[in-house]
Amino acid sequence: MHPMLNIAVRAARNAGKVIIRSFEQLDKVEIESKGSNDFVTSADLAAEEAIIETIRKSYPAHTIIGEESGVLTGSDDDYQWIIDPLDGTTNFIKGIPHFSVSIALKVKGKLDQAVVFDPIRGEVFSASRGKGAQLNGMRIRVKAHKELAATIIATGFPHKQKQHTTAYMAMFTALFKKSSDLRRAGSAALDLAYVAAGRVDGYFEIGLKPWDTAAGELLVIEAGGLVTDFVGGHNHTSSGNIVASSTRLQKELLQTIRPHLGEALSK
Ligand code: IPD
Ligand code: CA
Ligand code: CA
Repeated sequence: MHPMLNIAVRAARNAGKVIIRSFEQLDKVEIESKGSNDFVTSADLAAEEAIIETIRKSYPAHTIIGEESGVLTGSDDDYQWIIDPLDGTTNFIKGIPHFSVSIALKVKGKLDQAVVFDPIRGEVFSASRGKGAQLNGMRIRVKAHKELAATIIATGFPHKQKQHTTAYMAMFTALFKKSSDLRRAGSAALDLAYVAAGRVDGYFEIGLKPWDTAAGELLVIEAGGLVTDFVGGHNHTSSGNIVASSTRLQKELLQTIRPHLGEALSK
């Protein structure tokens, strides 16, 4: 295992210990609102601290971009760690056991290492650039469906950007009619990890942040899949509008949602 991936896994597991301890005493967890339907808890903050401490011990010069701490610029900015210490905070707050730790490393602007850790199930989804993707050390691959008919598609509702509700529901309806079923589980990082593992056949969501998707994107690519924006380009890292699936299914996925995008979502 690449030494930097090793540190990423160690950091994710350290964050996972913090999160599980808090999950077992939810009544003691402090909750703050960051915006519309967007929360941060004392567990998010403690988990991010544990991740930063673990990374800094091995790589003090690297830059760290944390969802909760912001940008901590290091002297060696070629190495950028992108962290979501607790993806699925609303699930966590409600006591729904489906959330993850997401850590990605970019080297000179390219995704290089990724880990998405599910502390409830003890599942480590990991990938190194050019070396494939693994689940607990076993190789994973996207499901190579040719068409939507028999597929399960994961998604997230635009609960933080409800101005997109009409367009989103049109996309949802079009995909629901063509696929077998849809799933909304509440952790974008795990949604992408599940595409990489072939547990779901595709995923789409509006308006995500880099820390939601950076690690999951490398997992999907290294598992033989594709990650694009809603029109098949690579603007998803700035727009947060993301579609992920196998290379063969991506075309039908994009064709199905395209008529419902409107101006705002066509980038
Ligand atoms: C959220 C989760 C959720 C997705 C939201 C994200 P957070 O991340 O990934 O599934 O629908 O858009 O913001 O806020 O729990 O880290
Ligand atoms: Ca997130
Ligand atoms: Ca988060």
